Amino acid sequence: MSKIKVGVLGAGTMGAGIAQVAAQSGHEVVLVDVNEKAIISAKEKLNKIIDRLIEKGKWTQDFGDDLLGRIKFSTEMQDFSGSGMIIEAIVENVEVKHAVFSKMEAIVDKHCILASNTSSLSIASIGSVLKNPERIIGIHFFNPAPLMPLVEIIPAVQTSEKVAKEAREMVDSWGKVTVLAKDTPGFIVNRVARPFYGEALRIYEEGVADFATIDWAMTELGKFRMGPFTLMDYIGNDVNYTVTETVFAAFYYDPRFKPSFTQKRHSEAGFYGRKSGRGFFDYSENAIAVEPNKDEVLGNKILKRILAMLINEAADAVFLNVATNEDIDLAMTKGVNYPKGLLKWADEIGIENVLNDLQELFNEYGEDRYRPSPLLKKMVRENKSFF
Ligand code: NAI
Repeated sequence: MSKIKVGVLGAGTMGAGIAQVAAQSGHEVVLVDVNEKAIISAKEKLNKIIDRLIEKGKWTQDFGDDLLGRIKFSTEMQDFSGSGMIIEAIVENVEVKHAVFSKMEAIVDKHCILASNTSSLSIASIGSVLKNPERIIGIHFFNPAPLMPLVEIIPAVQTSEKVAKEAREMVDSWGKVTVLAKDTPGFIVNRVARPFYGEALRIYEEGVADFATIDWAMTELGKFRMGPFTLMDYIGNDVNYTVTETVFAAFYYDPRFKPSFTQKRHSEAGFYGRKSGRGFFDYSENAIAVEPNKDEVLGNKILKRILAMLINEAADAVFLNVATNEDIDLAMTKGVNYPKGLLKWADEIGIENVLNDLQELFNEYGEDRYRPSPLLKKMVRENKSFF
């Protein structure tokens, strides 16, 4: 069977990576961007990546040449003609997305799958402008797309089963780990991961510990690859704060997702993180690293609290059928490199212990933010575990 032609719209951070992934799997790819500079820059970056991989002996010159030869770089959407699937990765703006999806539909035939890589918009809304809305689907990659194994597949209410199945099989054939998520804010990863940042910020705001100590607790005792503050500095406090605000609004202001003044102020001050030289930590040349307080009792208290909130979010996503147990654990280990699936972790800690931790927080603060998921209560009543 010959491979379908794949279109990618938007040659920025994500689009260029997605085009590389599809071409690496042998597809003819058309990468389109309105901005010619973005196209030139995407081509230059890909050339550099190929050269580096050849130098390292990972790829042969022929493989690199063939890969590059399969990608057509263009500023004309008309070049999408004949595609079997198009993945859109342009600005996160629903009006602009509506305009391009209408335009793309007019160029391709009725069997072409139209996908969006959006992180925060609803797939149902993006698909609403289509004449054949059953072909819309969310295909959400993680940055950098060629390296991160996870891809969330998000069928909208309009999506046909056939399109959902074909899209997932296609991305699976690219060697990615796919998980199926409901079309709800943040899908799996950007929903379940919120307390990693939010609860860490809250702990800091209460004066329980400083940034370095909280990061130490999560990396040293929790075995997370990066502490929350280091990670926020890496993502950028401006970007991470905006995602939090978007998710908070999308959940009708559920206090569980409430953004933090601390992060807002850092963002307002221009303390974005690594990219600006200063965030929660100082990245300037002669900066002296802040020493954490390596008190294990305090560290375990911090880890337990953040972990309980993460598990609560994961459990609630199961409760509301956002995804299966297996997919939620896969998403967090393959999409954001958690040391363990949160639900597997919950089984190890004991569901009753997790519920007790949450109940204690809820009793102490009296805030809705700490309400335990009904699923955890039910599981304790029925003496069940996730796996
Ligand atoms: P980016 O800003 O790096 O690239 C966007 C590209 O789209 C630019 O080159 C721009 O010229 C082009 N563009 C804008 N309007 C266009 C139009 N009407 N027609 C054709 N091209 C157009 O953005 P990035 O970060 O790659 O994000 C793209 C999408 O991927 C967004 O929906 C975002 O939410 C999503 N996403 C981003 C992730 C990230 O870590 N950056 C991760 C996963 C999803």
